[in-house]
Amino acid sequence: MIKILTIIGARPQIIKASAISKAIREKYSDGINEIIVHTGQHYDQNMSEVFFEELQIPKPDYNLNVGSGNHGFQTAEMIKGIEEIIFKETPDCIILYGDTNSTLAGAIAASKLHCPIVHIEAGLRSYNKTMPEEINRIMCDHSSTLLFSPTKTGYDNLIKEGFKTNTIPPYTADNPKIYHCGDIMFDNTLYFSKIASDKSEILQKLGVEKDNYILATIHRDNNTDNPERLSSIFKAMMDVAEKFKVDFVIPLHPRTSKLLDRNIHNEVYSRLMNNKHLKITEPVSFLDMIQLEQHSKMIITDSGGVQKEAYFLKKPCVILRPQTEWVELVEHGSSIIADADYERIINAIDNLINKTDFNFPAIFGDGKASEFICNEIINNFNV
Ligand code: UD1
Ligand code: UDP
Repeated sequence: MIKILTIIGARPQIIKASAISKAIREKYSDGINEIIVHTGQHYDQNMSEVFFEELQIPKPDYNLNVGSGNHGFQTAEMIKGIEEIIFKETPDCIILYGDTNSTLAGAIAASKLHCPIVHIEAGLRSYNKTMPEEINRIMCDHSSTLLFSPTKTGYDNLIKEGFKTNTIPPYTADNPKIYHCGDIMFDNTLYFSKIASDKSEILQKLGVEKDNYILATIHRDNNTDNPERLSSIFKAMMDVAEKFKVDFVIPLHPRTSKLLDRNIHNEVYSRLMNNKHLKITEPVSFLDMIQLEQHSKMIITDSGGVQKEAYFLKKPCVILRPQTEWVELVEHGSSIIADADYERIINAIDNLINKTDFNFPAIFGDGKASEFICNEIINNFNV
């Protein structure tokens, strides 16, 4: 039996972990014993707890309750907690998802104790080191033993950084193995979109009609913390709502909610407060989110996960970032990068809103990435 230590903390990691937990529950419970550590990076009920029951994720064995703070403080507190747990549990490997501070903390704690790192969502690069996530990804990849990239571009990025394709076992941090294996979030979207259609009542709750609203999310720090950028995004949404007679549904991340009154220009803020077309809500559960995504007219977002789910569900998407690590979405024409620029957002929505001839080739695997990863963990850590 292989003992894996899974680190989760931020909302997207909790959701990602459900794919591997489901594979273990259904197929690998004889081979893998999963211990789950929640760092507590996200802690509001609707940013954390809501996902456990809905997505059938086992309750965490440990919760470090680290909470919010500056990067150094938050990461350091997590490192201390994870280190203690590695000493106590002596896992065969540690599973790290994506690119948050919880990922980085896991990578630092594990690599110093020579605990092999399995990085899921390896190789993604925005080539913008002012993004905290870019630093976290690079540090995690370069201390990992098994690296699972969801896209061919991610796999090729690793090769460009010196990772070899012809390494042979036993794999270590100095002799790592890289894989192109598909995206576990594609597994999740395939599985949960059917359940969401049966169970979610979010459209009725919000009073929106199928295919007559745009779904928007905004939480990236360079948007929320910059009044110019945040104001441009909200002004563009209000103008589009009027021009196209379309509603916006905006499940707002707590980071953005807390900064909204402070970081939006006064005239934009007062217009926003009286605007019936922008339906700003608390963060929603994953089933509600998938339901909102699959019935939206289009999606605008600065989220990594949401821009990909737009593609999985065959929706056009405007990306509110200067660049994306999911370059395929843009290459295939269904997504446009508009950054936080008012004119570019309006033009991108104009270009995409009534277009129908999109192409969504199957570039994120076959919906079985989680099984592939579990098999490789068993092959590599079975002693
Ligand atoms: C983090 C990740 C980001 C990811 C995002 C997913 C890092 C560096 N960033 O960003 O990559 O896209 O999670 O959502 O790890 N807050 C609450 N309640 C919560 C959680 C956060 O109110 O449950 C507020 C706090 O004011 C906090 C702020 O949101 O200071 C930011 O939270 P934090 O986890 O530091 O970063 P995110 O912006 O959520
Ligand atoms: N999500 C959710 N409820 C929301 C907003 C997002 O369940 O109100 C899901 C979304 O479907 C995706 C994940 O959270 O699976 C993305 O997380 P987020 O945007 O916070 O982070 P990122 O992907 O940018 O790191």
